[in-house]
Amino acid sequence: MEARIACLPSERTLTAEAGGIVMDAIYAAGIPIASSCGGQGVCGDCRVRVVAGRTHLAAAYPDPGPWVLRHGEPDGEVLSCRVTATGPVTLATSYW
Ligand code: FES
Repeated sequence: MEARIACLPSERTLTAEAGGIVMDAIYAAGIPIASSCGGQGVCGDCRVRVVAGRTHLAAAYPDPGPWVLRHGEPDGEVLSCRVTATGPVTLATSYW
């Protein structure tokens, strides 16, 4: 099963393996994704705004990770290194 991820404002779309880490799918598609912790949930740089499909994003790990524990869940955003896509989603950053 696959999940479609649309990236705004570039309007690039990629297909991710359902259950795979969103940040990994974005990176594998050649789309830049900010990170200074390598996907460990520490830096928060990989935050993306969820435009549509929030119900298709699921936590990838039982714990929310250090950044969320320190700052709380980001309003309207997710850490792309901490979520998986189970269906179509639309995500946005300021640099896509
Ligand atoms: S890459 Fe650092 S928190 Fe996601």
